[in-house]
Amino acid sequence: MATELEGLLRPKVSDAPPYPAKFMQLANGETMVVRSVERDEIPLLLEYVQPLIKVERDFYDIVAARVFAELLGQYVHRIQDQYVLIGQIDGELATIVNGRTLSPGIGVSLHTIALRRGLRIGAHAFAAKMEYHMDYLNHEEVMIVAESPIGFRRFLVEYNLEKRPQVIHELGGVPSYALTRETFEKARGTLVVGRRPVPKDLLDKAKAEILPPSDPPVMAQDLLAASRSVYDSTGSAFRGQRSKQEGRAK
Ligand SMILES: CC(C)(COP(=O)(O)OP(=O)(O)OC[C@H]1O[C@@H](n2cnc3c(N)ncnc32)[C@H](O)[C@@H]1OP(=O)(O)O)[C@@H](O)C(=O)NCCC(=O)NCCS
Repeated sequence: MATELEGLLRPKVSDAPPYPAKFMQLANGETMVVRSVERDEIPLLLEYVQPLIKVERDFYDIVAARVFAELLGQYVHRIQDQYVLIGQIDGELATIVNGRTLSPGIGVSLHTIALRRGLRIGAHAFAAKMEYHMDYLNHEEVMIVAESPIGFRRFLVEYNLEKRPQVIHELGGVPSYALTRETFEKARGTLVVGRRPVPKDLLDKAKAEILPPSDPPVMAQDLLAASRSVYDSTGSAFRGQRSKQEGRAK
C-alpha cells in the first residue's frame, strides 16, 4: 500500500540528455569545473546551502531557502524533471544552478546562487544552464525571473531578455521574462564560456568530493552595508541603531 502510494506521489521523470561537464578560467586565474550532480551528492549540497538561509544580504536568504527546498525535492523525488549543475574550484563548491523542463520545448530557470563572490561565478553558471536548456534539452524558450537586483542585472539586463507578462512563473507567481533561442545565440559568443572535454585529472578531482565553500557569503558586519533595506529605503533606522550601539545616541 505504502509503495503504491509512493508511486502516485513520485513524479515520473522524463529522459533527459546529460550535461557534458566543462571547465573555464576565472578572472583570478583559478579554474572552475561545471558539471551535473548525482542524487547521492545532494545531501552535501543541502549542508552547504543551509547556512545561507540566514544570510540576510543580497537576497541570499530567500534564494537559499528555495534552493534548499528544490534540492530536497530532488532527493526525495518530489519535483518534476529538474536538473542541478554545480561549479567547483579545486573541488570546492562555488555555485549551484537549477531549472527544469516545463513542457516540450519550454524550460524554466529556477535558481542561480554563487558561494564565492566577485568573480562572475554565478554569471558563468547561469550561462551554463542556458546552454543546457538550448543545446541539450533543445528548449525553444526558457522562462526566467529575478529575485534580486544583482540577479536582475546579471541575467535580465545582460541577456536583454524579453518580457512575457502573460506567463506566470512558478517561482513566486510573478510575470516571466524569456530567453529565446535568438537571444541566446546573440549572447553565446560573449557570455557563454568554457571548454570540453574536461581534463581527466580535473574532472576526477571535482567528482571525488564536493568540498565546502571556503569563503561563503555572510551577513554584513554593518547592516547599512547590506544592499537591501526592505523596510527603510533611507537607511535611517539602521543609522540610528548604529549610533546607539556606538554610544553616540540614546
Ligand atoms: C546573483 C548572483 C548569482 C551573481 O553572481 P556573480 O555573477 O558571481 O556575481 P559577483 O559575485 O561576481 O558580483 C555580483 C555583485 O556582487 C557585488 N560583490 C562582488 N563581490 C562582493 C563581495 N565580496 N561582497 C559583497 N558584494 C560583492 C558586486 O556589487 C557585484 O556587482 P556588479 O554586478 O556590479 O559586478 C550572486 O550575487 C548570488 O548568488 N546572489 C544571491 C542569490 C541571487 O540573487 N540569485 C539570483 C536570483 S535572480
